[in-house]
Amino acid sequence: MTNLEIFEESKKYMPGGVNSPVRAFKDVELTPPVINRGEGVYIYDKEENKYIDFVGAWGPMILGHCDEDVVNAIKETCETAIAFGAPTELELQLAKHMCTTLDNVEMIRMVNSGTEATMSAVKLARGYTGKDKVLKFAGCYHGHFEGFLVSAGSGLLTEGIPGSAGVPQESIKNTLIGQYNDIENIREVFRKYGKDLAAVIIEPVAGNMGVVKAEDSFMKELRALCDEYSTLLIFDEVMSGFRVNYKGAQSLFKVKPDLVTYAKIMGGGLPCGAYCGRKDIMEKLSPLGPVYQAGTMSGNPIVMAAGLATLKKLHNNPQYYEKIEKLGAMLQSGIESISKEKNIPVVVNRCGGMMTIFFTNRDKVRCYDDVMSCDVKVFKKFFTHMLKNGFNIPPSQYEAMFLSVKHSEEDIEKFLEIFRSFQYN
Ligand SMILES: Cc1ncc(COP(=O)(O)O)c(C=O)c1O
Repeated sequence: MTNLEIFEESKKYMPGGVNSPVRAFKDVELTPPVINRGEGVYIYDKEENKYIDFVGAWGPMILGHCDEDVVNAIKETCETAIAFGAPTELELQLAKHMCTTLDNVEMIRMVNSGTEATMSAVKLARGYTGKDKVLKFAGCYHGHFEGFLVSAGSGLLTEGIPGSAGVPQESIKNTLIGQYNDIENIREVFRKYGKDLAAVIIEPVAGNMGVVKAEDSFMKELRALCDEYSTLLIFDEVMSGFRVNYKGAQSLFKVKPDLVTYAKIMGGGLPCGAYCGRKDIMEKLSPLGPVYQAGTMSGNPIVMAAGLATLKKLHNNPQYYEKIEKLGAMLQSGIESISKEKNIPVVVNRCGGMMTIFFTNRDKVRCYDDVMSCDVKVFKKFFTHMLKNGFNIPPSQYEAMFLSVKHSEEDIEKFLEIFRSFQYN
């Protein structure tokens, strides 16, 4: 069957033909290729078209597709251990590895996705503080949990409206929305709601409005406000963890979160997530404490083995991050200089191996409002051009591209060559 035949038939059995909306290429009004296999930096569709991949399964594949060590760990484990729903040594090994190699991670609870990690972290924060309200930032995404599917209400700085059908007003009445990198706005939220605020959840390097990094002073003041009002600070590192460097975005700021969430890379490409942090908070979790959270598949042995193989390899090879940084810088400066030459208005935001090319006239992109200034028609044209020339990049202006250790200077040069041939006008 061709790509098109498979996708058309998929639509009969799965809404939109997909199991996660962005895969349907709706923003770019194209039909997605149906991916059949991956190897290193390449993915191949059902018609054996080859693409250089800058999506990496939306982050997890930092070691490239089907890394030998990860594949072997999965194969070895599934010979004898698929699922038990009981304690295993593998989950201990991954938990211990993370507690000893990461900062501010004293105890961990494994779950099965980023969504599960963030929603559970918020519940834990509520249970720990005895408060109900949670502050999130416009443009940050923390999964599809009802309490996070909130859009900023027009004109109202902090009161949200449901961001999806099926989300009752009741479920989001305790969710407040703040403006990223705007400390005055956040001070106002705290003045108004601080005493009821259980937690602030933030992507310290946002990837879900494209890449936008929190500013140092903003993060410091945010921490100070949380301390003043006894509010917990949760870093959502589902995307940035093990990505911007091994220790994640929190190592870029001299600020300690109380809780941290991980997923994506920590599962080596298998369904995984975790929330972690201060022991005195984590000990409020059932069976030790009163906050209930459970999972039949949590800590699954095959997932733990894939995660452990991935994290050990990354930890033992710091040169991987140096390589990714070098390639990222090469890609960024190449795009910036070609855009200047060709008069294409862009801002390129990058943090290590995550990067977004924003097609905007603004000088900087530092918040959701800047992101919304982008010309999505130009993005669509750019995306189509890249795909036609064998590059798989995220099919939306508001996402991050990801580099892996398998990318080479040659791949970056090819990217730049194709970018140079992009007809902007
Ligand atoms: C920062 C962040 N948090 C949470 C999530 C949700 O993770 P999942 O898709 O594994 O549920 C995502 C997904 O992209 C994410 O980027």
